[in-house]
Amino acid sequence: MDTIVIRGGAVLGGEVTVSGSKNAALPLLFSTLLTSRRCVIRNVPVLRDIRTAVAVLRHLGALVSPSRDGHEITVEARDISRSEAPYELVKTMRASFLVLGPLLARFGRARVSTPGGCAIGARPVDLHLTRLQKMGARIRLAEGYVEAEAERLRGAKIVLDMPSVGATQQLMMAASLAEGTTVIENAAREPENVCLAAALESMGARVRGAGTSEVTVDGRPELDGADVTVIPDRIEAGTYMVAAAITGGSILVAGARADHLDAFTAKLREAGVAVREGEGGIRVAAGRALGAADVKTMPHPGFPTDLQAQFMALMTQATGTSTITETIFENRFLHAQELVRMGAEIRADGNRAIVRGASALSGAPVMATDLRASVCLVLAGLAARGTTRVARVYHLDRGYERVEEKLRALGADIRREAATA
Ligand code: UD1
Repeated sequence: MDTIVIRGGAVLGGEVTVSGSKNAALPLLFSTLLTSRRCVIRNVPVLRDIRTAVAVLRHLGALVSPSRDGHEITVEARDISRSEAPYELVKTMRASFLVLGPLLARFGRARVSTPGGCAIGARPVDLHLTRLQKMGARIRLAEGYVEAEAERLRGAKIVLDMPSVGATQQLMMAASLAEGTTVIENAAREPENVCLAAALESMGARVRGAGTSEVTVDGRPELDGADVTVIPDRIEAGTYMVAAAITGGSILVAGARADHLDAFTAKLREAGVAVREGEGGIRVAAGRALGAADVKTMPHPGFPTDLQAQFMALMTQATGTSTITETIFENRFLHAQELVRMGAEIRADGNRAIVRGASALSGAPVMATDLRASVCLVLAGLAARGTTRVARVYHLDRGYERVEEKLRALGADIRREAATA
């Protein structure tokens, strides 16, 4: 397995362009299963998770044609030969579970492996299943698979216990082909869901309220093709914003949408980082001194859990005590122990981590446990003295396009060592 090797200490500067959002592109790709017509998806990031989604679509029988550079993907799901997504594909990437709603809504049946837990927690799919039942699906769990059937799904009034991003997407897609109107209350408000709504609208469904906590979808008996563009990746953008702040540098994050990052930007400013929002993106410049700021992750528009690890790396360099509370996932402090091995002072207890800074970090061999944890260790490595080696880089490759190339262009001393075995 590859390793990323970083020699810390460089002050980053210049401009970096944000890629398309992984978390927006994945549901868009799966939504193409709702229609027999041609769908074009633009600004797709070139990432491992996207390759997995393409493999899932091809496994089901869809024709998938990526452009030469991989940033545009055309899908024709006319002749779907299977309605089953096997364990091997779903276990590689949980988001593959999103094929359930589209397959069920279009073909009346689907068999999809349950995703199981992952490093950051149990991550159940009960909301997906019980709410599809509310729309008339008959659901059976057998041998690790969800088997779902329905002649035609019916619109329903649905209330979610929590604003789950995935459940909201699953239900929005299913509702687009259901008979009548579906109202999803306590829906997730993430920008990625607004992007999905635009795709469903372009297919001919009527979606109102995307981006608010009440989403209404009028279903159609059949849907049309779509031509949609993936929004910029707000998590990647936030990661480069931290890269500027943690190295004492100044970076223009080109293409970043400030309106998707309000809660995060507010916390950076509270910590003394200068953030300027402009037409072309967001400029971030480290202030004279970093101060501690407390953070609590929340569903959008709150502080995103996917930027919690990166913010923790930053807080190791801030003077004072910062309390970081994780409310979305039960076990998302795996990076804290690795940061401690690099010299950080962090006490994690339950869903709270207390970071005392500023600590002089020193390079160390560290291990990535999940996608955001791995980039947090890269950020810490940039700020550390000496050499940091981040192992298990495949996590990083799932979600960050050309990360070492982009960081190198900003002045970082970073390289990838290919595994020899
Ligand atoms: C998505 C993102 C992920 C992000 C997360 C929260 C993708 C591919 N992934 O994941 O990067 O960290 O949103 O912003 O877009 N839950 C239940 N029952 C359910 C569904 C969810 O209990 O049926 C719980 C989960 O265990 C978790 C919480 O709800 O504790 C939030 O999960 P959810 O919003 O569904 O996250 P994902 O869609 O899996």
